[in-house]
Amino acid sequence: VLSDEDKTRIRAAWAPVSKNAEVYGCEALYRMFLSYPTTKTYFPHFDFSLGSSDLKTHGRKVIDALTEAVNNLDDIPGALSRLSDLHAHKLRVDPVNFKLLSHCLLATMAVHNNGPLKPEVLLSVDKYLSDIGKVLISRYR
Ligand code: HEM
Repeated sequence: VLSDEDKTRIRAAWAPVSKNAEVYGCEALYRMFLSYPTTKTYFPHFDFSLGSSDLKTHGRKVIDALTEAVNNLDDIPGALSRLSDLHAHKLRVDPVNFKLLSHCLLATMAVHNNGPLKPEVLLSVDKYLSDIGKVLISRYR
């Protein structure tokens, strides 16, 4: 459960990400595909090189969806309902992969942060991303 403090930290930390959706999304995906090559099997049609239009376009979609959820922190399942169905029923993404993408997104945020991310901010955003993962795999059973 996200506390009020978590929510305040998440909204603040997310502001630069939502403003630069393509940059953060593209880099997070690039890191995921590079560090965890098995994730590439879900995207057989993609050009995986850094800055490719596939990574930029898809990166923006992922970040925009996460921004929608940040704007609806009191009802994340509702905000992501369509995506939960898509990832569970159509794409059949193995749940472990959500942790991998979350980690790469946090790494991307840390790299672009002005100085080290504060531990409490890191914790709140990690909690948020883990909630997102739980929501996106909630329709598997
Ligand atoms: C598609 C969001 C995690 C695999 C999408 C789309 C969005 C999205 C917004 C586009 C949906 C549409 O076009 O209507 C997210 C979010 C994630 C996440 C917010 C977690 C933070 C993952 C992971 C994988 C994955 C971990 C697999 C490693 C896919 C695939 C597509 C897709 C294969 C279809 C891509 C295409 O062919 O265009 N996702 N996703 N997603 N996602 Fe995810």
